[in-house]
Amino acid sequence: MSIKINKLEIENVKRVKAVKIEPSANGLTVIGGKNRQGKTSILDSIAWALGGNKYKPSGATRDGSVTDPFLSVTLSNGLVATRKGKNSDLKVTDPSGEKHGQQLLNSFVEELAIDLPKFMDSSSKEKANTLLQIIGVGEQLYKYEHEEKELYNQRLTIGQIATQKKKYADEQTYYTDAPKELVSASDLINQQQAIMAQNGENQRKRDQLANIQQKYAAKGQEIEQIKAKLAEAEQQYAQLGQDLQIAQTSAQDLQDQSTEELQRNIQEIDEINRKVRANLDKDKAEEDARDYSNQYDTLTQKINEVRQKKTDLLANAELPLEGLSVEEGDLIYNGHKWDNMSGADKLRVSTAIVRKLKPNCGFILLDKLEQMDEDTLKEFGDWLVQEDLQAIATRVSSGDECEIIIQDGYVSGQDNTPPEPPQPKQEAPQQEAPKQWKAGEF
Ligand SMILES: Nc1ncnc2c1ncn2[C@@H]1O[C@H](COP(=O)(O)OP(=O)(O)OP(=O)(O)O)[C@@H](O)[C@H]1O
Ligand SMILES: [Mg+2]
Repeated sequence: MSIKINKLEIENVKRVKAVKIEPSANGLTVIGGKNRQGKTSILDSIAWALGGNKYKPSGATRDGSVTDPFLSVTLSNGLVATRKGKNSDLKVTDPSGEKHGQQLLNSFVEELAIDLPKFMDSSSKEKANTLLQIIGVGEQLYKYEHEEKELYNQRLTIGQIATQKKKYADEQTYYTDAPKELVSASDLINQQQAIMAQNGENQRKRDQLANIQQKYAAKGQEIEQIKAKLAEAEQQYAQLGQDLQIAQTSAQDLQDQSTEELQRNIQEIDEINRKVRANLDKDKAEEDARDYSNQYDTLTQKINEVRQKKTDLLANAELPLEGLSVEEGDLIYNGHKWDNMSGADKLRVSTAIVRKLKPNCGFILLDKLEQMDEDTLKEFGDWLVQEDLQAIATRVSSGDECEIIIQDGYVSGQDNTPPEPPQPKQEAPQQEAPKQWKAGEF
């Protein structure tokens, strides 16, 4: 059974003149009123009474008060915490009259329950961590997150290399007309030499023809010039005529082969081989790119697996509020991060989380509940009841949703005159008193 605040008495603290409140044991007790009437001063007083002197307001004593502040908080476990006197010393008394101190209060008063802004103002990561610690998966989730981050960074690097490799591969030229393997020059040179040898032979024959032609002509002239040697010359001439015929016949069908194409091929070898090398380079680059792309895909799969583990971890944990979760170290409520939550949702989320920090602490102080419309307020109140949680809240309003209205440091409707010294009971007063310890009245 968690501990609640049964009764409050506050005098001369900050804006409060004199206030007595008996909040509802469960759900909301809304302290309403206009601005600057003392609503927040009441919450500050409770925090000081239960949280220790570090919660003492800087100007604790009400201006103009001739008496010291007085605080008294009666708790459902029977403890009464009071502060009074010049130094506002704390006294904690149990039902048997035994005295205790702050330490006992600290054992069940959750600091964030009396100082919710401390939670609300903490960073998104701190809030998420608080939640994770509550649901007991903080360490495992941290491990997964660390693992995921490492894989992610690894994948990022691989991804960058893969993109560079692919770009490099794409930039390489590919020659579809080039052979798959490097070409050797020696075959072509041998062919060329054979043809050149043949052509040399042909040339020799051609030279021979020219030579005979020349001699034949010379002999003709010699016949003209040397009549005397005509017979001999005619014979020679006839002989040469025969030789000429033979030579002519032999030279008639001679045909030279061209080495042009071979020459061109030899010249192209370098170019062909350049292309072959380029193609080999491109093949290698593409293989590299494929390899990195595969590594990237493997890492993506691993990241997804870790993410799934994280999701499962949170899905199986018991969360303090439906719709509440942690994603990538951020608190998420109904799909929204803290900075995207409405003011009402922030209060609800904070309350739900703080509630679980010290389950014995059955109360929470909530300032500025005007962030909730009346429907939300009602729904929130029902949820608090269901959670067995008492919330003492303030709201700038004088509407029906407020159990108590604070005006000029007093509870509106409460007897504001200072208490009279006890009088012997004489006549029965009008039957409306004594007022009951009831929210909003005293
Ligand atoms: N020691 C003090 N004595 C008298 N008045 C004080 C003292 N300290 C603060 N105040 C005044 O109390 C008022 C604020 O009180 P408090 O915060 O309780 O009001 P509130 O009802 O919560 O107002 P709001 O609706 O604006 O939040 C201010 O006007 C402030 O100047
Ligand atoms: Mg206020």
